[in-house]
Amino acid sequence: MPDEETSSGADVWKRLFGKYSDTFLDHAYEPRNVGSLEDADVEISFTGPCGDSMQIWLRERAGRIEAIRFLADGCEATVACGSAVTSLVKGRTVKEAAGVGARAIKEFLGGLPVEHNHCAILAAGTLHRALAELIRKKRKE
Ligand code: FES
Repeated sequence: MPDEETSSGADVWKRLFGKYSDTFLDHAYEPRNVGSLEDADVEISFTGPCGDSMQIWLRERAGRIEAIRFLADGCEATVACGSAVTSLVKGRTVKEAAGVGARAIKEFLGGLPVEHNHCAILAAGTLHRALAELIRKKRKE
């Protein structure tokens, strides 16, 4: 058993909650695409019923998600889902990104315990709101 003082957060979670996959722990403790984005076309924030919230910035060029970043105010699962959803859609077309939902996020993370299903819904909901805002802006141009 690893020394308590030298264990990483992911090690502790794995021991306490063996139900999480290595991919989940990787994205929860080493999240990708974190932070705000300069020159974003869209910045959107969404709060779920549990009070956790996510913010997404994205930039589209030639119909693709050229860059996307997120910040999450919530649990490790929310962070992992933000990392997953941004990883899934970066470089994809807007249409492809619109097809990414909570199921794809859960699959990407190797599953989520049922009590954290809504974290994937929050991440997908924030993405879809960002894409809707992007489309609305593009129509106005
Ligand atoms: Fe509510 Fe993660 S615990 S979104």
